[in-house]
Amino acid sequence: MCGIVGAIAQRPVAAILLEGLKRLEYRGYDSAGIAILEGPGQLNRSRTLGKVARLAEEVAAHPLPGLTGIAHTRWATHGEPATHNAHPHICRDRCTIVHNGIIENHEQLRAAQREAGHRFTSETDTEVVVHAIYDQLAAGHDLLEAVRNTAAELQGAYALGVIDTQDPERLVAAREGSPLVIGIGFGEHFIASDVFALLPVTHRFIFLEEGDIAELTRERVRIWDRDGHLVERPVKTSNLALDAAERGEYRHYMLKEIFEQPQAIADTLDDRLSGNRLRPECFGNEAEALFAEIKAVTIVACGTSYHAAQVARYWIEAFAGLPCSVEVASEYRYRRHVVPEQALFVTLSQSGETADTLAALRQAKQSGYRATLAICNVPESSLVRESDLVLLTHAGPEIGVASTKAFTTQLVALLLLTLALGRGRDIDETEEARLVGLLRSLPLKVEEVLRLDEQIAMLAESFVDKQHTLFLGRGEQYPIAMEGALKLKEISYIHAEAYPAGELKHGPLALIDEQMPVVAVAPNNALLEKLKSNLEEVRARGGQLYVFADFQVPLDETDGVNVIRLPETDDLLDPLIFTIPLQLLAYHVAVLKGTDVDQPRNLAKSVTVE
Ligand code: AGP
Repeated sequence: MCGIVGAIAQRPVAAILLEGLKRLEYRGYDSAGIAILEGPGQLNRSRTLGKVARLAEEVAAHPLPGLTGIAHTRWATHGEPATHNAHPHICRDRCTIVHNGIIENHEQLRAAQREAGHRFTSETDTEVVVHAIYDQLAAGHDLLEAVRNTAAELQGAYALGVIDTQDPERLVAAREGSPLVIGIGFGEHFIASDVFALLPVTHRFIFLEEGDIAELTRERVRIWDRDGHLVERPVKTSNLALDAAERGEYRHYMLKEIFEQPQAIADTLDDRLSGNRLRPECFGNEAEALFAEIKAVTIVACGTSYHAAQVARYWIEAFAGLPCSVEVASEYRYRRHVVPEQALFVTLSQSGETADTLAALRQAKQSGYRATLAICNVPESSLVRESDLVLLTHAGPEIGVASTKAFTTQLVALLLLTLALGRGRDIDETEEARLVGLLRSLPLKVEEVLRLDEQIAMLAESFVDKQHTLFLGRGEQYPIAMEGALKLKEISYIHAEAYPAGELKHGPLALIDEQMPVVAVAPNNALLEKLKSNLEEVRARGGQLYVFADFQVPLDETDGVNVIRLPETDDLLDPLIFTIPLQLLAYHVAVLKGTDVDQPRNLAKSVTVE
């Protein structure tokens, strides 16, 4: 989703801003732009369609000198991806803005501004903001007042960076619903959508809160809350290494992140286990007593995180004996729901900034849940800050749009939650020791599965010319099939659907013919025989089967049946183990197809708008 960088410094800022944009590329975008104040009243802007590298070439050809500037990567919402829609937007050479979010009342504002004589040069919702700020400045307000008064007129979500060409000594930023951080330097200050963008220039950050407006000069940063009170926000030091978000020797971030899974899983388990036990305090000091009172669990998430939640439903009901419901956040937030008595509301998110998940959490907090818990990969995210309890996954930065290590570490965190909820219920000490032992064995098991990489790369050739693929699973492998299908469609653009295998005969069987590859996840569990019958139904109709099965599964490789063997493991770990080859399959198919693996078309990493 859109990325923002801004700087007010004692040195030229063009290179800093461009590097910041490069580091935000992972968020997904279609165009980029930069505006730099060369001197009072002199603003220079450059915008390009496509990659930041193109913008950098443009700036190299036509340098933008100046010590204050803003820059942006745009992910189109209103108006096609095009140079004239790219940010920064400027009004009458006076002020310029970059924006992330959606202004919901842009149509009313636009109509009124047109009437008042403003000319529009884009189809974006953002352009009304720059005109509104201009009107405030023209009416005699200073930049801070102009932004504050404009913010009061806006409905929707925004993170803003604003410069007034007549007031070159400051940069103003505002946040409502979209993330924004301030980077603290020495004699220079910065804004950005996330900390990665600013790691080359600082490791000290202030995370703006909802409704905050900030004024940055070279010397200081001042922040006002939504009620107009001057407030102090804590300065936090990030311990992320400068290269934390770099690709290293890997061809793509996604491949790097797939191979980082053993370490990410080990890190997520680290210091949460002690001997044969789960550390009671890992969900916070109050959690143990609170969990003892919980009678039901609701989990809300989007995309890949939703699939992890679906797996957790099986675990929480089977091991902890608690009813668990799971829903996609965009649906949950817009319906009236019955809140079960003493229920725990869990949100699951890699980024912690997903607009729908955040909105669902805010709604749940008003609805009478006993407590809220966020399972998240980003410690300073909105979701973490707004939840009662937190369990961080320690996946490290995930840059590839297709979520991989974030998913498997979420599953690990959800197993820890299952254990914590199951204690004193269906999980006794012996069972806890068994589960903890299995968790500890997980990083090595995942390493073993990663050795299938070459074999799966060869298998990928069978999928390259396909238009459609069906993924099948049963039980907790059904969400894994869903995740496999999502991975394949998002990076290879092959249409992929997942079904619980028992549903085949209720409709999707009609799709099966010799052209239809069917991927099945088949661990050696209680549902294996049922699944095998479903696979027979596919074979009988000529479908091409690609079955991921562990060594114990009696399945013969015959014409039309390809079997990929995985190391055998306990049922509990199967969802994690069977995810890995599906990630690799999607990756290799995408590479063979030559798609943009890390930044697939139309998608954004952090979905901060509805
Ligand atoms: C997964 O590969 C996706 N790109 C996407 O579905 C993602 O999981 C979803 O947008 C939710 O993001 P979150 O975990 O940051 O909330």
